[in-house]
Amino acid sequence: AIERTLSIIKPDAVAKNVIGKIVSRFEAAGLKMVASKFVHLSRSEAEQFYAVHKERPFFKDLVEFMISGPVFVQVLEGEDAILKNRDLMGATDPKKAAAGTIRADFADSIDANAVHGSDAPETAKGEIAFFFAGLNVYKR
Ligand code: CMP
Repeated sequence: AIERTLSIIKPDAVAKNVIGKIVSRFEAAGLKMVASKFVHLSRSEAEQFYAVHKERPFFKDLVEFMISGPVFVQVLEGEDAILKNRDLMGATDPKKAAAGTIRADFADSIDANAVHGSDAPETAKGEIAFFFAGLNVYKR
């Protein structure tokens, strides 16, 4: 089915100036960018976005990292977009990410892991709504 997913190019990848290289991989896989913007999250916004992880030991470092610089947020649309994006990203820990995936090629650590992608249709819906008003998501 045609799905939408939220992709975040995290502060490490933005700082490395590889936004275009990462976007190219989405395009080559048939995913279309239907909304995008830069955001420098506040602490409370980052805490809210990652609320599902608030009891995890890595929560504080995750929030600290995500507010360390601007991120590039996109809505990607395409056939099986959620799973396709996760396959392109590779495993959360870049040491475990398969060769040729975004995290294998651009990530430095499990915290500075270059990208975020929604993990399921319900979370995709919530994450997209967190960043984009419906009128700013475009049919292409
Ligand atoms: P992300 O897909 O953005 O969702 C939560 C983030 O927490 C994850 O990517 C990682 O960058 C970060 N993180 C740090 N440590 C862990 C861990 N042990 N397990 C899962 N995620 C972690």
